[in-house]
Amino acid sequence: MSWERKNIAAMQGYISGEQPDDPSILKLNTNENPYPPAPAIEEMLQRFSSEVLRQYPPPNADEFREIAATLHDVESGNIIATRGGDELLRLMITTFVDPGEMIGTTQPTYSLYPVLAQIQNCPITHVPLTADWKPPESFSDQLNDADVKLTLLVNPNAPSGVLVEVEQIEQIARSLNGILLLDEAYVDFADNSYDAIPLIEELDNLVILRTLSKAYSLAGLRLGYGIGPEHLIRPMIEKTRDSYNLDWISQKIASIALEEQGYANQTWLRVIQERDALRTELLKLGFLVPNSQTNFLLATVPKTHTAESIYVELKQRNILVRFFDQVGLSDKLRITIGTAEQNHKLITELSSILISQ
Ligand SMILES: Cc1ncc(COP(=O)(O)O)c(C=O)c1O
Repeated sequence: MSWERKNIAAMQGYISGEQPDDPSILKLNTNENPYPPAPAIEEMLQRFSSEVLRQYPPPNADEFREIAATLHDVESGNIIATRGGDELLRLMITTFVDPGEMIGTTQPTYSLYPVLAQIQNCPITHVPLTADWKPPESFSDQLNDADVKLTLLVNPNAPSGVLVEVEQIEQIARSLNGILLLDEAYVDFADNSYDAIPLIEELDNLVILRTLSKAYSLAGLRLGYGIGPEHLIRPMIEKTRDSYNLDWISQKIASIALEEQGYANQTWLRVIQERDALRTELLKLGFLVPNSQTNFLLATVPKTHTAESIYVELKQRNILVRFFDQVGLSDKLRITIGTAEQNHKLITELSSILISQ
């Protein structure tokens, strides 16, 4: 007999990308930043006194929230700090969606969303993206018809990397009957002209997710945050969040990371340059690759091969990329942008696989 709730017993958990211990394996599978975190973080860790850990950390991460608020030109009451962006997603669901109520998203989307919906025992409506990886014009209508309470929309899209303009985001948020969680996990690698944050002042149903995992090279830290109107942020801070959800060290490191904007910006520029160079090389090899505004590329493999066979071959050559055995994605590989040297290695191995098979 299982003691799990029925929906938990029936569900499969989230399957993370492989995280091998072996440092000789080239990891281009989980969208980590190939450049190290800001040097000021290493300096702080060298000076860090463990005495601080005797006491509980600041409960609301106020210092971090002030810094994030200044960075985005909002008030600290508009910011919630969370254990990775993933905790914000969970909080949005547990705070605003009753079990049994409908959650909405696109198809494809970030594969954690359906898992979180299942945990809360909520059904989920997937609206297929158009051929150019954008929500269809009828997106909000379809979700309203399904009585969706919370929509989870990732922009730039994962796994395609395609960015939807702010105007379309605004139109979607305005026409939805429920709340929109705009997941901007990868937005720092997008065009500078894109900025959805001012929308939170005009719209009462929009929360934006940010994370330090990708843009600030801190996936191992587990720190993200939400930006939204106070009436949506406050209940999560005051009621549904775990008390002391962020430890001392995370709070300190995250504050430094946001303050070191100059350093972070340099890594984004390098990733963007490498992304565009890698895309050109993949196109030359016969892959189809939409224009990405993130730190990864979604590459449709040449018809002569299957994506799975190339994934397996690369793995045998110690290179990990992501293969999703799902409708619409099974002929594609998602490839994280590495350093110039790492990308060169990938292209060399891909060329040899395409010739030899
Ligand atoms: C689309 C998307 N949203 C949110 C996240 C959450 O990231 P984290 O929990 O590391 O902040 C990820 C991580 O892979 C992601 O791909």
